[in-house]
Amino acid sequence: MITAYDSLFANLFDGNIDLILVGDSLNMSFRGENDTLSANMEVMLYHTKAVCNGAKNSFIVADMPFGTYTNKTDALKNAMRFYQETNADCVKIEGGTEKAETVKYLSENGIAVMGHIGLMPQSFRSEGGYFVKGKDEDSRKKVLADAIAIENAGAFAIVVEGVKEDLAKELTETLKIPVIGIGAGKYVDGQVLVWSDMLGFFEEFTPKFVKQYLQGGKLVKESVRQFSDEVKSGEFPKTEHTY
Ligand code: KIV
Repeated sequence: MITAYDSLFANLFDGNIDLILVGDSLNMSFRGENDTLSANMEVMLYHTKAVCNGAKNSFIVADMPFGTYTNKTDALKNAMRFYQETNADCVKIEGGTEKAETVKYLSENGIAVMGHIGLMPQSFRSEGGYFVKGKDEDSRKKVLADAIAIENAGAFAIVVEGVKEDLAKELTETLKIPVIGIGAGKYVDGQVLVWSDMLGFFEEFTPKFVKQYLQGGKLVKESVRQFSDEVKSGEFPKTEHTY
């Protein structure tokens, strides 16, 4: 699974990857904000529509924004909007045991739900930072209990983020539903990365769990500089670019 936030990149990813996630990470990667918290329904619907327009063949996951599923009635109303106003195939919800009732309610009402446990970016402010989970016994037990609660509530798959590899392994062996890891090591059923991280467009820092498959930022800067130089030198446009 890879994230996409617009039609252009969604179209490039379509057919080359199993799932596309319209993650609320777009609030940082696309909108330049510091965290995911201010991405609201209108923002997420706008980007989900764009991604669906670009990727006609992929399974598309839409992130439910922070504050839009604090109770099950709001959760259903907002999840319905993804189904009625976009072609998203499912919604993704951050949370464990405390969100199980909401996941059950959505699933019972015809919404496919992907869970998201472990490090949950929407909780970063209340937790005081982004912390890897599963470093002690209490944390391990909590993540495992969260995973089981979300599976039992009817989620069809789960993202596990920022956990120790052995915990992710135990979790994958315990659950029947597919486990998609990010910063969770290799003993999971699938992996997800944020597109701008894995294609090297985000240059400020590279998280430990990211592999850069392209140096996109470097290529873009070199190309734009070349364009600028060629315009100034008269090298571009040539006859073949002229009507
Ligand atoms: O918003 C996002 O991109 C995500 C991934 C980090 C899993 O939730």
